[in-house]
Amino acid sequence: MSTISNCTETAIKDAASTLIKGDLVAFPTETVYGLGADATNEDAIAKIFKVKGRPTDHPLIVHISSIDNLDKWARDIPEYAVNLARAFWPGPMTLILPRTDLAKDFITGGQDNVGIRIPSHTVALALLKEFEAQGGLGVAAPSANRFGAVSPTTATAVEIELADFLSENDQILDGGPCSVGVESTIINCTENKPSMLRPGAVTKEMIEDALGITIDLHTSNSESMQVKAAGLLESHYAPKAKVFLKGTPTLGDGFIALDSYETPAGAVRIAAPKTDEEYAQILYEAFRLADFKGIGRVFVIPPTGSGIAVAINDRLSKSAFEK
Ligand code: TXA
Ligand code: MG
Repeated sequence: MSTISNCTETAIKDAASTLIKGDLVAFPTETVYGLGADATNEDAIAKIFKVKGRPTDHPLIVHISSIDNLDKWARDIPEYAVNLARAFWPGPMTLILPRTDLAKDFITGGQDNVGIRIPSHTVALALLKEFEAQGGLGVAAPSANRFGAVSPTTATAVEIELADFLSENDQILDGGPCSVGVESTIINCTENKPSMLRPGAVTKEMIEDALGITIDLHTSNSESMQVKAAGLLESHYAPKAKVFLKGTPTLGDGFIALDSYETPAGAVRIAAPKTDEEYAQILYEAFRLADFKGIGRVFVIPPTGSGIAVAINDRLSKSAFEK
């Protein structure tokens, strides 16, 4: 495994050919780092599941560089999905759409739909473009963490998560810290009306404004859709420390809250973001810092309100030991 800290054109070409050969490349996106593999190569995809320790029936998101490639992976695309794609791609949004034959069971977990995203990070887009120029069709990439752990938002975090599991030819591209910090918004586009399966930086309000309709939020498995989504499991996104969303920290406990909250006596301040956007951006690194410091319990005051606060609360409730 090698980490590439200077993502030059040559480095991107090399990373794309690494993917074409069937090896893995972890790369930055604006949300979190992804662990990429050629989405048409079953053996390469098997490596992702092995490295992550993830159950193989959990579907993967296919990343493409342009809306022009959407038809290769998805069919019967509803008009509202096209509108969402035009409004928010490239960006932190994944659309679940009916699949074409290209999206095999090893990508979709056997479901008839496939998750597609065009990320906006310059390194991710350059890698996807170059991969396609070399004959590739799409890069499957889950977050580059071990199953159930916190998503990495820096290349160092990817190394900490996966260095022991990656092989010699695999690569990590370092594109600096991710700007959004929480995973993409996932929208189910397989029914008459869109619904949100995972909240993210493309918020409910943004979607409703773009489409002129109201949408539902289904963050647990809805009966109308038999989706197996890891991010929909009750416990996920968890650090080693126990996370508490209620109660008061005592001596030596960690504390995460907006800057406007004072640190309770004896607690160790882990993070003090000034805005909800900054809260999302630093949350996972804050969890990692707590683990690094060997802190056993972290008390968190979640942000209130709408917008990205909804995504933060979603992840916090899944990471929490006691809510
Ligand atoms: O921001 C992101 O989405 C990042 C970056 C790397 O793009 N990726 C990411 O992937 O978070 P992952 O695999 O860690 O989480 C994707 C979630 C999982 O819960 C997965 O089960 C769900 O999306 N998913 C993927 N394809 C799906 C499908 N066809 N139907 C329903 N859920 C799907
Ligand atoms: Mg994940």
